[in-house]
Amino acid sequence: MTTRFVPPHPPRGPAPVPVWRGFFGERARNAVYGWSAPMFENWHIRRNILGIVVHVVTHPDAVQRVLQTNAANYAKPDIVKRVIAPMIGRGLLSSDEDLWREQRRIVAASFAPPAVDALIPDFARAAASRTEGWEGASVRDMAAESTATTMGVIADTLFGGDPRLKTEAAMAHIAAALKAAAEARLSAVLRLPPIGWNRTVRAGQRGQVFLRSTLAELVGERPGRADGDFLDRLVHALKDRFSEEEAAALALDNAATFYLAGHETTANALTWTVYLLSEQPELQSEAAEEAHEALTSGSDDPALPDRLPLLRRILEESMRLYPPVPRFDRQALGSDTLADAAIAPGDIVSIWPWIIHRHKKLWDDADAFDADRFLPERKIGLHRFQYVPFGGGPRVCVGARFASAEALTILAHWLAGWRFERARARPVRVVGTVTLRPENGLPLRLVKRS
Ligand code: HEM
Repeated sequence: MTTRFVPPHPPRGPAPVPVWRGFFGERARNAVYGWSAPMFENWHIRRNILGIVVHVVTHPDAVQRVLQTNAANYAKPDIVKRVIAPMIGRGLLSSDEDLWREQRRIVAASFAPPAVDALIPDFARAAASRTEGWEGASVRDMAAESTATTMGVIADTLFGGDPRLKTEAAMAHIAAALKAAAEARLSAVLRLPPIGWNRTVRAGQRGQVFLRSTLAELVGERPGRADGDFLDRLVHALKDRFSEEEAAALALDNAATFYLAGHETTANALTWTVYLLSEQPELQSEAAEEAHEALTSGSDDPALPDRLPLLRRILEESMRLYPPVPRFDRQALGSDTLADAAIAPGDIVSIWPWIIHRHKKLWDDADAFDADRFLPERKIGLHRFQYVPFGGGPRVCVGARFASAEALTILAHWLAGWRFERARARPVRVVGTVTLRPENGLPLRLVKRS
């Protein structure tokens, strides 16, 4: 019999908050703050934000229609493209139609099961080398530890281990760029030019410059090879299909896309999982035992993730409660109907894993942690589109398998060797920007297991 554990979430008022409140205070800087209780029980809400009509749809059938059955009617919104273009241009994440299709085809093989399985030793090495800096019983910021680890993984597995992508400065710049992206979105809604209007935005711009110039250097050094690492193969395939100028631009855009999308999200998944386990010592011990046993048959085994069923359920539940990507959007090209609501061409349709994953009509005791929701026999009853940490349909996260295998391998190594304990009295506060992080990091006490 396990005790019921409800990890913290922002308070919920009884009625929807007026639109103007979204431009000020906590609501302006924290995407998951200020949602009212009815939002977690209704299937649709329509808001008019300074002339931009936004529909938040939470019914799984509606989510499925947007992402899968009528996906051709929904593109990445212009406003989102404008905000993220300075970082990732027209790479895979931020392009549509033929340009998207071509890029997806180019990278697909690098993320297919055999390619990902072959990376397990890299994931294991990254997990182990991070723990070398941990001492007997010290307090560490596990958000920073997780980010440094996943950043190293992406640099090693996709970019030939280039040291320029693994520095402390790189980490700080990227955190600043992502924080500023939320503010940039606000200025885009307010139709303000994207100029440095406060410290966050200016730090974000410096972050973007760092990201683009470092990656431009790297890409410039790669002539492209069909038998090289991910970046070599990408450059090679792009040159094959596009003009020289276009290929060079897309190589940089995709290098930035994969560097960013490939580590920040998984870092958050690791952080929240370690947090949830630090609050549930018994469950942590069970997971550690499973990890210890799974690792006895070799840490380089591509089948390692399959020997961690409990840890996998814990990771799934962690991404339900704290989805690393709390929202993503589409723009309707033509009219449609979603959850009985009329959608007009140009309207934004917003998909919120943060809300869908905690919806009262979709989940029993929705805010409580219960990894056994993901037991095979209980999973049968779930709608495919009520759990969307990686999105769904043709644009489902191309790195989903990579991310799960990476997170499970790293967690197994960490848990087998270390115990994670609460180190501060204050409850953790969740902050949503482009991703979902604990405010001011996650200090935990790390105790070496004997
Ligand atoms: C736990 C970790 C991760 C989460 C929660 C996550 C989440 C997501 C989500 C929700 C989308 C869909 C966005 C949309 O439909 O608008 C997406 C797309 C994408 N993700 Fe991930 N992701 C993760 C890890 C990764 C990794 C490791 C990589 C690469 C190494 C990656 C690369 C991408 C790319 C390139 C896309 C765009 C795909 C397309 O539009 O065709 N992600 N991700």
